[in-house]
Amino acid sequence: LIDDKAEWLQKEQGLAFSIVGIATRSHGMAINAQGLDHAACLATNDLSSLHLGEPLGDIFAFIAQVPAQVILEGTWVNPQTGQPATDYCRAALRAGKHLVTANKGPVAFAHGELTTLAAERGLKFFYESTVMDGAPIHSLRRTALLGAEVQGLRGILNSTTNSILSRMGEGLSFEAALAEMQAAGTAEADPSNDIEGWDAAIKLAILANTMMGADLRPAGVDRTGIRGLSAEDILAAKHAGEVYKLLCEAWRDSSGRVQAKVAPARLSADDPLAHLGGASSGLTIQTDVLGGLSILKTPSSPRSTAYGMFVDTLNILGRQQR
Ligand SMILES: NC(=O)c1ccc[n+]([C@@H]2O[C@H](COP(=O)([O-])OP(=O)(O)OC[C@H]3O[C@@H](n4cnc5c(N)ncnc54)[C@H](OP(=O)(O)O)[C@@H]3O)[C@@H](O)[C@H]2O)c1
Repeated sequence: LIDDKAEWLQKEQGLAFSIVGIATRSHGMAINAQGLDHAACLATNDLSSLHLGEPLGDIFAFIAQVPAQVILEGTWVNPQTGQPATDYCRAALRAGKHLVTANKGPVAFAHGELTTLAAERGLKFFYESTVMDGAPIHSLRRTALLGAEVQGLRGILNSTTNSILSRMGEGLSFEAALAEMQAAGTAEADPSNDIEGWDAAIKLAILANTMMGADLRPAGVDRTGIRGLSAEDILAAKHAGEVYKLLCEAWRDSSGRVQAKVAPARLSADDPLAHLGGASSGLTIQTDVLGGLSILKTPSSPRSTAYGMFVDTLNILGRQQR
């Protein structure tokens, strides 16, 4: 994406993005202050062959040494602890680097702490790709919704369960719909993270924390997955003109506390979220000034996630910031 947009970046933003380091778990690490050769990085299985300079120790040594203005964190998500990514994020900010992450863990477990750490150092901490794969949710909150009070959230945030429910609406059993997605590589071999609602819960915790000022962890979300739904349940809803979705909701209770719930729900045909089929996702944000505002997104790809990280980086270094 950086290569594809290089000409636009130069012309419109007066910028040239240069990748000065990459660290992985099992494919080595490399730093080149002059900029790594992108094609060579993609072609090798061992990045250390492209490293220039002092030998690198562990990931923390890499984070301290890499001469980058922005660190883009895209390691594996641990929905129970948010680690080790949260420690990488802390280290990046402590090393004086702006931080962009696509990883839900650090935002669900340490949003407040990382935001404070960044602000104390005059740095930015952005995470557009964590929910709805790069759709402009967090930047909307930061800019277009300045001063608006977010009173509630409703969303369809997990594409695997939405695809399974869509196929069940066409007559497939839960097992057959899941097997179909696993064969196509769009569901994990162990799908429990999606099916049991953990992925939706971690995304809802992120949204409740960043948009409504909550301090929720994924385990604090009242969570029911879709395993208990039968083909008969889905068809009964269909006959009543309704549709089952794994609905994510956050609201303030009478004491002002933010409550959050992920559970299958029957939506009526006039609900904007009812029309999201397959791997689409959507969010309705209820505010005190604009009423309900919905963002709907067609099926995503790794490129849309990459775009979220690209635009976060641009929002840190781009022309409007200078
Ligand atoms: N793919 C998407 O469309 C999408 C959408 C939204 C959010 N995300 C989030 O973005 C992140 C990356 O997703 P992905 O699909 O690119 O995952 P991926 O293909 O599994 O890549 C993960 C990368 O992180 C490295 N890594 C894993 N554990 C590490 C550790 N402990 N220390 C250092 N490096 C480590 C891996 O290194 P090795 O290759 O050496 O193992 C690999 O390069 C995840 O948090 C994911 O939830 C992805």
